[in-house]
Amino acid sequence: MLEKISSLINSCDKHGLASLLRSKGARPFIHRQLALRLITAAVIISLLLAVVVFVLEYRRLGKQVNNRAAEVVSNFNDQIQRLGLTLEYQQEEVRQELKMLLIAGKSIPAAGKLVYASIYNLEGMQVAAEFDSKHSQIVTVKELAKAIEERLRNKPISEQSFKQIKGTPFIRLSFPLYDSFGNQSSSIEGIFEVSERARQEVTSRIARSVSGAIATVLLTTIILYPVISRLINQLTVLTENLVESNVETLRVIGSAIAKRDSDTDSHNYRVTIYSVALAEKIELKPKIIQGLIKGAFLHDVGKIGISDQILMKPGKLSEEEYEAMKLHVQHGVDIVTQSEWLSDAVDVVGYHHEQFAGGGYPAGLKGNAIPVNARIFAISDVFDALTSKRPYKEQLTLDTSLEILSQGRGTHFDPVLLDSFLEISTPLYEQFANGTNQVLFKRMEFIILKYFSKEYRYGDDDQSV
Ligand SMILES: [Fe+2]
Repeated sequence: MLEKISSLINSCDKHGLASLLRSKGARPFIHRQLALRLITAAVIISLLLAVVVFVLEYRRLGKQVNNRAAEVVSNFNDQIQRLGLTLEYQQEEVRQELKMLLIAGKSIPAAGKLVYASIYNLEGMQVAAEFDSKHSQIVTVKELAKAIEERLRNKPISEQSFKQIKGTPFIRLSFPLYDSFGNQSSSIEGIFEVSERARQEVTSRIARSVSGAIATVLLTTIILYPVISRLINQLTVLTENLVESNVETLRVIGSAIAKRDSDTDSHNYRVTIYSVALAEKIELKPKIIQGLIKGAFLHDVGKIGISDQILMKPGKLSEEEYEAMKLHVQHGVDIVTQSEWLSDAVDVVGYHHEQFAGGGYPAGLKGNAIPVNARIFAISDVFDALTSKRPYKEQLTLDTSLEILSQGRGTHFDPVLLDSFLEISTPLYEQFANGTNQVLFKRMEFIILKYFSKEYRYGDDDQSV
């Protein structure tokens, strides 16, 4: 990934950031994401449709079986009435008729057959029961029948229920039986085995419906993809231009305040590079690092509001002048909070003069009450001040600079962050403290690509300096 980004950076000077982002950045990433999401949505919708079709078809099967069984039971009821059989006194005759009912059930190939039937009087007492004794799964059927009887002992059940045994669906059915005056005299409970033909018909209907649904969803996806893709292309162009404008604005404002403060762009670049290196060392979230980059660039933007007399004064500031100078923090906050894109810079801009033990300004915050980005930046800013040549001071050596930094451990600086910074300070110093503008610029382009282009925003784990 590092080599890939480096090659991109090398061409950045020629083509500019926006064209680079356009050619290598966000679009392939977004199109891959779009295709992936559409396919995922198509698969999920197809699966949901499959489940719905499966449930509907099984309900349809239940209804079909119920209707066929109701016909058979109705004929049985007519036969009982025709023969004038009474449940109390002619149980053997009723049992014989039940046996006939089971035989009659075999003549319904489109639905299945009754494999068990029993009659209960209105008090819930079993009057007669009969099995299909030649059934290949007679043991299973008897177990099911036993379960029904136990449930009926507790309370009557009228719902239809399915039970799948060794791939064969059995349906429990319940119908009322009537006397010749039309009054309910008893009820019949049965277990119905769904026929192979009925099962095949259901399977075939499910397969047809699901493949039709999948084909519809896929076709819709194929038709929609180019439409959405074109819209995303238009949106991406606008977004890329916006990102480029925002980053350029960041550079211009940072550069403007550097010139106002008799400083150079290189200070802004270095403090940003050092801050990002420390943030990556402590594995800060990329979203937070975005705010850190903006804040590092614009940390002293509020100095625009400080008079030349104070800002340019060569000697020491009076107490009154120092108080006026402190206002640059509030001026900075006022400026960055006017832009939504810059508003996450406020953690650095508003708190970069706070000190860990509470001796800073403007609020005198202590410890973790100071935003982490401000605690990071405070270390980077002082490190760069010590290791740079300024009009009023010479460049200090790395050892001397680190010694001075360490004196502020726990007072000026967050001790944990300072310890982490000391671990990476040597390579940072060697690479950037005396780095040319070109070296600093290329590193800045690397950072901007990494954190502000869609493709690399959160994808690169490289933390080398
Ligand atoms: Fe400042």
